[in-house]
Amino acid sequence: MIDLIRKLVELYGPSGFEDQVRAFIQAEIAPYADEMRVDALGNLIALKKGDGTGKRVLVSAHTDEIGVMITHVTEKGFLRFTNIGGVFAANLLGGRVQFADGRQGVIYGDKFEDRSKLHPLNKYYIDVGATSKEDCPVRVGDAAGFYRPLLVMGDRLAAKSMDDRIGCVVGIEALKRLTASPHDVYFVFSVQEEVGLRGAAAAANGLHPDVSIALDVTGSGDTPECHPMAISLGQGTAIKVKDGGMIAHAGLVRLMRQRAEAANIPHQMEVLEGGTTDAYAMQVAGPGSISGCISIPCRYIHSASEMVDINDVEACIRLLGEILTHPIDL
Ligand code: CO
Ligand code: ZN
Repeated sequence: MIDLIRKLVELYGPSGFEDQVRAFIQAEIAPYADEMRVDALGNLIALKKGDGTGKRVLVSAHTDEIGVMITHVTEKGFLRFTNIGGVFAANLLGGRVQFADGRQGVIYGDKFEDRSKLHPLNKYYIDVGATSKEDCPVRVGDAAGFYRPLLVMGDRLAAKSMDDRIGCVVGIEALKRLTASPHDVYFVFSVQEEVGLRGAAAAANGLHPDVSIALDVTGSGDTPECHPMAISLGQGTAIKVKDGGMIAHAGLVRLMRQRAEAANIPHQMEVLEGGTTDAYAMQVAGPGSISGCISIPCRYIHSASEMVDINDVEACIRLLGEILTHPIDL
């Protein structure tokens, strides 16, 4: 599984430019899906058919990552940019970005008059080694993702884009292991989550699921002087109860907890005070659906070194499997 994680996190895929990630997942899951299609927004929708006795279940993991878009090129060939999604200036200085063609660049900032204060984003720039506007290979409107290779430290893994390629891994592995299910399960690898849950909203509006489950990272409260949160790396899958956008369906939360307990899967209850996931969009799409989220605990979210514990990832895959192979009676 480490190999799959490495390939996925290192792929290029800022919101709106997910094609490389989608193509990779498409090839990876083709042998396991009964039907597969790509919709107008770019969501990859894979159906695993049930035995006709269950529900319509939508499982969503987002393929996109936060990044930047070039707004203009200076006379000397430096690139100014705007954010794609939640980019925090403190994570930028000396960092590297990767463009669609694999070209990389270095991020730096204008002179700091006061080193205790961060610049706004428009005072940072990307240096791709150009010497002038004319020889700069990057154009206005090009998008870049942050770049850093996967770091493996025993059970702890750090990389850019764990949010949400690790959710994609959970979805891919669950689909691979799902031999039989009462439910028609639509695995959606969604686009544009980081800019407002747009892909999942369109997918859920089209699919009319009875039940929808997002797979995404959540924060943790186990690092020095952090915001208190009852989630720790290595303590199991997180069952979302509430986040900044949604209150998960209480019956589905109860069912997730029962399934985890019955199968001895380590789990923790998640209340995230800020941020949200595809589950919010799917809950309120069309006539609405019973919605919840299986979360992978993650440190340093939206930095280039997002960190998860491989045992938690495995627990998430197992919990999703338990839910999909049993009746969902709420
Ligand atoms: Co995110
Ligand atoms: Zn996410």
